[in-house]
Amino acid sequence: MEKIIIDGGYPLCGVADMQGAKNSVLPIMAASLVCDGECIIENCPDISDTEAAIEILRELGAVVTRHSDFITVNPANAIKYEIPDRLMRKMRSSIIFLGAILTRMGRALVSFPGGCELGQRPIDLHLSALAALGVKIGESYGSLDCSVDKMKGCEITLSFPSVGATENIMLAAVKAEGFTVINNPAKEPEIEDLQNFLKKMGAKITGAGTNRIVIEGVKRLNGVRHRVIPDRIAAATYLFAVAATGGNALIRNCCPEHLSTAIGLLRDTGCKVDVLDGAISVECDTVKALRVVRTMPYPGFPTDMQAPLMALMCLARGNTVFIETIFESRYKHVGELIRMGAKITTEGRVAVVEGVRHLKAASVEATDLRGGAALMIAGLAAEGETVITNLHHIRRGYEFPEKVLASLGGRIRIENN
Ligand code: EPZ
Repeated sequence: MEKIIIDGGYPLCGVADMQGAKNSVLPIMAASLVCDGECIIENCPDISDTEAAIEILRELGAVVTRHSDFITVNPANAIKYEIPDRLMRKMRSSIIFLGAILTRMGRALVSFPGGCELGQRPIDLHLSALAALGVKIGESYGSLDCSVDKMKGCEITLSFPSVGATENIMLAAVKAEGFTVINNPAKEPEIEDLQNFLKKMGAKITGAGTNRIVIEGVKRLNGVRHRVIPDRIAAATYLFAVAATGGNALIRNCCPEHLSTAIGLLRDTGCKVDVLDGAISVECDTVKALRVVRTMPYPGFPTDMQAPLMALMCLARGNTVFIETIFESRYKHVGELIRMGAKITTEGRVAVVEGVRHLKAASVEATDLRGGAALMIAGLAAEGETVITNLHHIRRGYEFPEKVLASLGGRIRIENN
């Protein structure tokens, strides 16, 4: 069982380079199924979620080769349409393969992704949109048996700007008959990255990042080379870590425009934050509380940044009220932060954080991906040795965080036993 050992209490200083975006590369890997050629996907992060996505592509028959920081996907022999339960359970976001498999095969057999640490994670918006496009959906024994002769474009209005549902609709509509309009789509940068990938293939799709996406189905799509955008959540995580340790660092290979709310909040805490070309510098000593932080769909403050920011706010002067509007249970990390001396009370979707002068090193357990990141931040700030177990949660979305943090002077090592 891998665990992280952090000798905390030292300011993080130096330069770190960001990984490719987990939440962009996953739908792009699914999208590689809808074309008739080989795709080269660059800036692909080495994380367990991309390994899980590679397993799914290979299970379907695609030939996937992992190189240094890129992968190649050749879907020519992808003639299967079933994702086995063990793979669906390995990564709940596998549901974003549904639209792509239907476009390629006209049939898909997947199990319900099931809930996760963040709540029950329904997929009703995905299924009602696919049904509107003409997909017949049978549900039995926890599995979805979907089939369609030819998808027919239509107008779809999402009651919530779901990221995954938007991606599934794009991948289902891209070769459908006629036009598909998505009203109230997700506007995250990862949606624009997926649109850019599909347009390179020859897709006719516009509007990503706006309130309306329009897709005209085409007959054929070609394999392409594409570089995935940098991971904005990882970038914010490391910025918050530098701030929590009173450090001074430069985070490179990122898109500052994708983190504008996080940058604004960091400046509100009193940190000095400069935006450079493809990089962000942060310098911090004392941190002021933020009073209220509400997670919102993009371009609001992202829910994935809530736990990492909470770790920073544990050390702020004053109280910060978090309101988690996206997921019904995204405070699993709070109990572990309290073990480190944090003063936090939660009630439903609200968490009140009372800043303390110091956190205390402790042995803690990662509860989920971003909660684990919060514990790394807390451990880096707390004097003494913090041990974080259940490292597999963190490995799902952060590429070798021990290396990134060590490049910033973090005293961090991995132990296997
Ligand atoms: C994506 O998840 C991200 N994952 C999540 O990142 C991120 O937190 C989330 O978007 C919100 O930004 C990937 O991109 C792989 P949603 P997704 O559909 O698509 C409800 C991380 O840490 N909903 O936008 O699953 C849902 O219950 C992960 O990197 C429905 O009600 O998110 C939730 O409350 C965690 N019905 C809200 O919408 C549906 O059919 C947001 O879900 C779909 C969603």
